Amino acid sequence: MPKITYVENDGTRHEVEVPTGNTVMEGARENNIPGIDADCGGACSCSTCHVYVDSAWIDRLPSPEGMEIDLLDFTIAPDERLSRLSCQIKVTDDMDGLVVVVPEEQAN
Ligand code: FES
Repeated sequence: MPKITYVENDGTRHEVEVPTGNTVMEGARENNIPGIDADCGGACSCSTCHVYVDSAWIDRLPSPEGMEIDLLDFTIAPDERLSRLSCQIKVTDDMDGLVVVVPEEQAN
């Protein structure tokens, strides 16, 4: 099962296993990662699942598509290169080791 590391803005790291086929957002919620509220439940309509993907990983993920790109414009403090909606990243086996950072503005 791929391991994903979620990094809180204070540097606290949470390395958890996320089943293939789940989303990065689901992995966060199932492991109570602070700051990923995912209010819309993964419907790509709230942006409270915003994360910054580690720069070493961003080009290894499938590119964002229409609705995600539109919604990223409405996140607080978007990063043009690293921002993603974690509900739109479906975990695959080759994402073992993925690192994402929770934006400071989402800290609970
Ligand atoms: S959970 Fe709402 S946009 Fe991702």
